[in-house]
Amino acid sequence: MAAESVPIKNTSKVPNDEREKRMWARIQAGESIENSDEMSDGYFDNLANLMLQQADSELAGASGYVPWIMRAPTTEEKLAVANIVKDEVRHARAMYRLLEEIGIDAETHVTRRDYMLRVDAKSDELKEKPAADDRRVNIFYYTIDTWADFVMFQFCMDRGEGHQLEDVRKSTYGPWKREIERIFKEEMMHVNHGDFWVKRLALDRTTKAEVQTALDLWYPRTMNIFGRPKSARNKIYRKYGLKFRDNDDVRKAFSNEVRLRCSEWGLNLPDWQPVWERILEGGAVPG
Ligand SMILES: [Fe+2]
Ligand SMILES: [Fe+2]
Repeated sequence: MAAESVPIKNTSKVPNDEREKRMWARIQAGESIENSDEMSDGYFDNLANLMLQQADSELAGASGYVPWIMRAPTTEEKLAVANIVKDEVRHARAMYRLLEEIGIDAETHVTRRDYMLRVDAKSDELKEKPAADDRRVNIFYYTIDTWADFVMFQFCMDRGEGHQLEDVRKSTYGPWKREIERIFKEEMMHVNHGDFWVKRLALDRTTKAEVQTALDLWYPRTMNIFGRPKSARNKIYRKYGLKFRDNDDVRKAFSNEVRLRCSEWGLNLPDWQPVWERILEGGAVPG
């Protein structure tokens, strides 16, 4: 049964047409939007949607990593994973705080949802629609079953996220743009952790097949997170200065980077055949 949603609505006392005027004046002058009195209803709804997707993805991502604190191969790696989990929970908390600042009851939203929920990887459900009513990006519903999966998740998904966050770094919403810098740096450390391990496993004859299997699994799943090319939702995000590139351009930037590393380390880039009608239109900012 679907959990009850908390209201996602701009409750500013300033009338919408006045907020709309203020908003465009600031955007056109190159000034950032700083609070909900400067956001039209449309801007508020789209901003809240993107920030909630990121917040829920960060929290669901942390939850999937938790077992790997103790399953990591060495004590050094247990500490590294514990630090990554701490980063992800901090990212989630930072994003929920931003949502609270614009009047959304994020704590009630979180309390009503199960971030530990995962689905059977063979299930078709994921491709059609989200498995539950939190706003996490679909990839966070899959289980991480091996150490190769864990490091591949960072190699693929944290890298994919980094490419999406590039747009947030220029966002018209000031508080998010400022917060993202620290999150971005930490995500790059996660990507580096993934790269270090994927390279190591790929160059070792005894683990190469295992890491190729993990790549075959997680690369297509990551390619699906970016949304459809030329989507109507993406155009709206761009109109408000919440995104700057087409979904497909972000996807290409990601896949070019992966291709380069795979060819250096002797891995085969898996075939990816998009089924566009099954890919969520707007794409998402993951965690
Ligand atoms: Fe991360
Ligand atoms: Fe994160």
